[in-house]
Amino acid sequence: MKIAIIGAGAMGCLYGGKLSAIPSNQVFLIDVWEEHISAINKEGLYMEEKGELLNYKMLTATTDPTEVGNADLALIFVKSTLTEQAIKVNKEVFGEDTIALTLQNGMGNIESIAGEIGEKNIIAGTTAHGATMLGPGRVRHAGVGKTIIGELFGVSSRRLKEIESVFSEAGLEIEISNNVMGLIWDKLLVNVGINALTGITKLKNGELLHFPELEELLEEAVKEGVAVAKAKGVILGFSDPVAHTKEVCKATAENRSSMLQDVLNHKHTEIDMINGAIVKEGKFLGVPTPVNQVLCGLIRFFEKGEE
Ligand code: PAF
Repeated sequence: MKIAIIGAGAMGCLYGGKLSAIPSNQVFLIDVWEEHISAINKEGLYMEEKGELLNYKMLTATTDPTEVGNADLALIFVKSTLTEQAIKVNKEVFGEDTIALTLQNGMGNIESIAGEIGEKNIIAGTTAHGATMLGPGRVRHAGVGKTIIGELFGVSSRRLKEIESVFSEAGLEIEISNNVMGLIWDKLLVNVGINALTGITKLKNGELLHFPELEELLEEAVKEGVAVAKAKGVILGFSDPVAHTKEVCKATAENRSSMLQDVLNHKHTEIDMINGAIVKEGKFLGVPTPVNQVLCGLIRFFEKGEE
């Protein structure tokens, strides 16, 4: 399968590296970070995993989507704030039958992709992996988790099965769901509980549970999200999203969340698509979301310092 990874950050590299280990796949990493791209092309992609240093050489990295051309599968891994722009500048990757798979955090990605290429070729899902960028050509796989994918309209399809088999062969645990909106909300609630709190406190995911006062904030933020989801009529996959969020904290204990990495790297965060999405939907539906509002305010305060 010809696979283009749009956005070779930590997660893009993690999936790109693993998928490239299967000889029948041809994997391209596309990113604007030139130093990173040339490091990968020179020495391969280095991935720290469970104390081992793995080197993936069977992939091509580029800043130029015309070098890639139409792919069978395009995995979109840019930050949610950049999705629309990334699809626009990588138009050459999307042919008539290219499947666009988004496993990104936050709300609004499907709409941004659909705005550029239409809905019919989009598959959405979630990932519970955690990864950290260590430097040009170097990432750490910091937490192992499941990938869950589904068609936007809930049907089962041959293309889902194909992706399932390619991912499984690459050692990526994968499941198919017929409730993709529920899935996206399940993951959103995890990010609502973990990302802003780690961004503010600078703690690793697992460390949030070492402090009862932070654990309580995590619980309240997720509960507000659950109330919004219910008011919106979303059918969540987890019966206890607070417990699930804490499980993800434990499974990715050593990871610095993507939002913490953004804060530390002085980058714009995904706050508007995560806790901000809960506040926005809550306002619309008349559901109070004070904890999420405070978390948004604090992260936006950090972002202001970077402007
Ligand atoms: O955004 C992240 O960092 C990840 O989605 C997760 C699962 C919280 C792990 O760090």
